Amino acid sequence: MLHPQNMKLCIAYHSPGGNTRSLAFKLAHRLKEKEPVLIDLEIEPLPTDADLYLLGFGVRRNSCPMAVLDTLKSLHGKRMLFFGTAALGTSEEYSARIRNQILAFLPEDAVMSGLWLSRGSLSEEGRNYFLEQLSSGDHTEVYERMIRECYGHPDDKDADALWEFFRTFISEEK
Ligand SMILES: Cc1cc2nc3c(=O)[nH]c(=O)nc-3n(C[C@H](O)[C@H](O)[C@H](O)COP(=O)(O)O)c2cc1C
Repeated sequence: MLHPQNMKLCIAYHSPGGNTRSLAFKLAHRLKEKEPVLIDLEIEPLPTDADLYLLGFGVRRNSCPMAVLDTLKSLHGKRMLFFGTAALGTSEEYSARIRNQILAFLPEDAVMSGLWLSRGSLSEEGRNYFLEQLSSGDHTEVYERMIRECYGHPDDKDADALWEFFRTFISEEK
């Protein structure tokens, strides 16, 4: 059994727009006593020697990016928690959809302990993506409201909510 003090922690993120990176940095700060390794998945491979992985990503096209899903196959027997940012928000239904997608890519002996989604504001690329969706005419009002509401996120409250969700799992990690 591994003492929590000796647990090797890896925080990795895929965040072209920087929103998820900002949450990853705040997590790393909160967990600094555990000396987490912080990995930017756009430029570095995921190390395989950690005991617990906190994996973050910006949702794209209703999905966890392939760049993240592809790295999961290397995590045999590992435990992990996921966090993401998404413009459309954080409903249980939306989280469940993305959680199921991640589960399909995990090795059978890996354990996914949870996924937490925060709101994330749109980059120019994201705005263009949603303008394209809006031009299809479906759910226009809902989309327009959600796009307005995502600005300013993730904020300190989002980071606190993520921490509240993760801390139980991390302190229970053995
Ligand atoms: C190409 C593209 C597609 C996106 N698709 C979605 C989507 O399907 N659902 C959603 O809620 N947000 C979507 N977004 C918004 C991002 O999830 C949101 O801005 C997120 O915070 C980006 O994370 P990052 O800044 O860490 O890269 C999309 C953004 C881009 C650029």
